Amino acid sequence: MDTRREREEAGGAPPARVCVVGASGKLGRYMVQHALDRGYEVVGVCREKSVGKLAGFGDRVTVVPGPTDDREVIGRAVAGCDAVLTVLVPWGVHGYSSGTAQAVLDLAPEGARLVFSCGWHITRDGRDVYSRWFGAALRVMTVLMRLVRAADIDDQVEACRRIFDSDARWTVVRGSDLEEGESEGLPVWSRHVGDPVLASNTTRRTDFALFMVEAVTDDALVHEAPAIVGRRTPSARAHARPSGHQRREGSR
Ligand SMILES: NC(=O)c1ccc[n+]([C@@H]2O[C@H](COP(=O)([O-])OP(=O)(O)OC[C@H]3O[C@@H](n4cnc5c(N)ncnc54)[C@H](OP(=O)(O)O)[C@@H]3O)[C@@H](O)[C@H]2O)c1
Repeated sequence: MDTRREREEAGGAPPARVCVVGASGKLGRYMVQHALDRGYEVVGVCREKSVGKLAGFGDRVTVVPGPTDDREVIGRAVAGCDAVLTVLVPWGVHGYSSGTAQAVLDLAPEGARLVFSCGWHITRDGRDVYSRWFGAALRVMTVLMRLVRAADIDDQVEACRRIFDSDARWTVVRGSDLEEGESEGLPVWSRHVGDPVLASNTTRRTDFALFMVEAVTDDALVHEAPAIVGRRTPSARAHARPSGHQRREGSR
């Protein structure tokens, strides 16, 4: 199947098929819903034991069961997709996050939009400014999670390093602390943590997903690592520009 870009160049219909890697999780299911709402054909990848979590979508989602770092699984799922939305999670200590990212980078069709999720702790250029508390909590979590072999946060860092080094049409969306609740609309974003617009450090999970899905058609976000925050939070209200969703040149 041709990618969206090829279809557009050929004058054909735009969207399209979107793959959600990690579709059964909380963020993944919100992304599936937003993608369906936009009329996309959706393919979801999730662990075999979690397939039931997608039952509510019925036959509107094609499910490819399997570990997200399994190249055969990812190869099948992303075939013919115009965009791949990937939930990057660092479970275990065997390179789950970097293996997932690498499989998507290697196997997605050329020219596909690749959008990855992670948290504020990922820094692209080292120019993010973190509070002392944030840095300390991250270090403690990294050590503790590794000690009990539950997760390897450094592997999510490695996954993002590979994405940043890639020529693919990627966006890495960096989420703040998350909460459940009704959508407040598209989050606002900044290139760097430490920007006052982000100070409230809260985003509705559904809006994180909304931002990921919106990024599919927002070419201004290609090769960006936006750090996001809810658009109705006090810091966003106080510091966002009127259109809200935009890069903040001053913080570059
Ligand atoms: N939680 C936060 O406060 C927060 C803050 C900032 C950024 N983020 C980012 O948001 C994204 C989603 O995070 P989330 O916390 O909201 O979780 P989530 O959406 O529920 O996603 C968790 C994912 O991990 C999978 N998973 C769980 N246990 C696993 C295991 N042992 N082995 C393999 N896969 C496993 C889940 O699959 P199953 O359905 O199969 O269990 C699901 O796809 C991540 O990229 C995270 O970095 C989260």
